Amino acid sequence: MPTIQFQLNGAAMAVDADPDQTLLEVLRGRLGVTGPHFGCGAGECGACHVMIGDRAMASCDMPMWSVAGKDVVTIEGLGTAEQPHPLQRAFISEQAMQCGYCVAGILISAAALLKRNPSPTEAEVRTALDRNLCRCGSHNRMVRAVLRAASEMAAT
Ligand code: FES
Ligand code: FES
Repeated sequence: MPTIQFQLNGAAMAVDADPDQTLLEVLRGRLGVTGPHFGCGAGECGACHVMIGDRAMASCDMPMWSVAGKDVVTIEGLGTAEQPHPLQRAFISEQAMQCGYCVAGILISAAALLKRNPSPTEAEVRTALDRNLCRCGSHNRMVRAVLRAASEMAAT
């Protein structure tokens, strides 16, 4: 199997992997990075989102060959329990999570949005989260949390 090199949450990675295996399989099954979740497996629900550059992308249908040389960020790279990302703080403040299954993917979509657009409108937040499904119906609180994080980040 070829060795595929990429950056993961700021660290250099070299993984021997089938080039057709998905990034999600490698993250969860090989590297123990379990923040991105398996939902639909078809690029439709956002549970597996990772950030590449300033874009949130589904890792469940991303072959490893396409990851070579990329800079991949998962929820594990966003913040820590000791130093949470402003989005993570805002999600807690707004009580924006119920079961939590979708949240890692939603936080990644929101983080990518704030990278591209630090002061989004509510409509822009809704559009950015449009590809993320939440079966618990927490979207309104999540949108409030993203707007809260954006204003906190603008104030610092
Ligand atoms: S599991 Fe990847 S988009 Fe649903
Ligand atoms: S919080 Fe349960 S699926 Fe979103």
